[in-house]
Amino acid sequence: MSLNIKTIGVLTSGGDAPGMNAAIRAVVRTAIFKGIKVMGFTRGYTGLIKGEFSEMNIRSVSEIIHRGGTVLHTSRCLEFKTTAGVEKARDICNENGIDAVVAIGGDGTMKGAKNLSEAGIPTILIPATIDNDVGCSDYSIGFDTALNTAMLMIDKLRDTAQSHERCSVVEVMGRSSGYLAMTTGIACGALSILIPEVEFDVDRDIIDRMLYTQRTGKRHFIVVVAEGSGSAMEIAELIRAKTGIETTATILGHVQRGGSPTLEDRYIASLMGVRAAELLAEGIGKRAVVMKHGQIMDFDIDEALNMRKTIDKDLAVLSQKISI
Ligand code: F6P
Repeated sequence: MSLNIKTIGVLTSGGDAPGMNAAIRAVVRTAIFKGIKVMGFTRGYTGLIKGEFSEMNIRSVSEIIHRGGTVLHTSRCLEFKTTAGVEKARDICNENGIDAVVAIGGDGTMKGAKNLSEAGIPTILIPATIDNDVGCSDYSIGFDTALNTAMLMIDKLRDTAQSHERCSVVEVMGRSSGYLAMTTGIACGALSILIPEVEFDVDRDIIDRMLYTQRTGKRHFIVVVAEGSGSAMEIAELIRAKTGIETTATILGHVQRGGSPTLEDRYIASLMGVRAAELLAEGIGKRAVVMKHGQIMDFDIDEALNMRKTIDKDLAVLSQKISI
């Protein structure tokens, strides 16, 4: 059934991700050029439930394409996980003539988009999270910027580890996935990379490799730990105790979520934003906009929520071969 959509809402939800602003900009301008009014909800589903929104025009999204974070602000909204919360949001939309919503965020945001669609407000998801763990999409907005930020930080740590002949253990974000850790670890030449998807043994995968490479003349070491597979502090302590090598621990933390989005993030966010608004203009809702094999596509949200992706475990073997 084709919907007659005259007014939409747009929001960002969950952890912020560089490129969210570029997506908002593309949604707002595409919708307006299609004759659709756009309301921007503040603080994600929290603002939706509270009815906190204002109308956006083509100038509301000027000068934001290059800015990190999200001009609409974001939050993790527990109330929206309840039926009562979703019903409140539906009522707010109905009372204010908002026919559909574009939600920009990760997996949690997609579940919210499904629930809101089923409550009667067709909602489109645009995947955005630095973790790159949205199962239906090869790519999530923010991943490339976070990778580059982590890479720059680890390069700096390498300089000081090299000067002092130390081991530097670096913890990167990613919740329960290892995309950020594996990709930056390979790009930074980490001796060992620990990710939640691959079982590891500290002696076999870190200590033995350190001692072996030490015998070949290596004097400094980088170990990358995904936050979902352990704590940099604890791993550093184990390395110190087992090797006697001076070892530091660094948690990169929220610095990975900030900064001006890279070209890739601005570009993909723009394409996804346009697709989301075009779908609604064509009267199509309850979709997830995704990137698959380099193409922008869209799937029904139920189908999208059941899709899984797995990290290529051979990357762990590959990284061990070349970082020795
Ligand atoms: O989902 C993005 C992410 O940055 C994860 O990598 C991390 O585990 C989590 O958010 C941190 O969330 P918060 O900023 O709410 O502490």
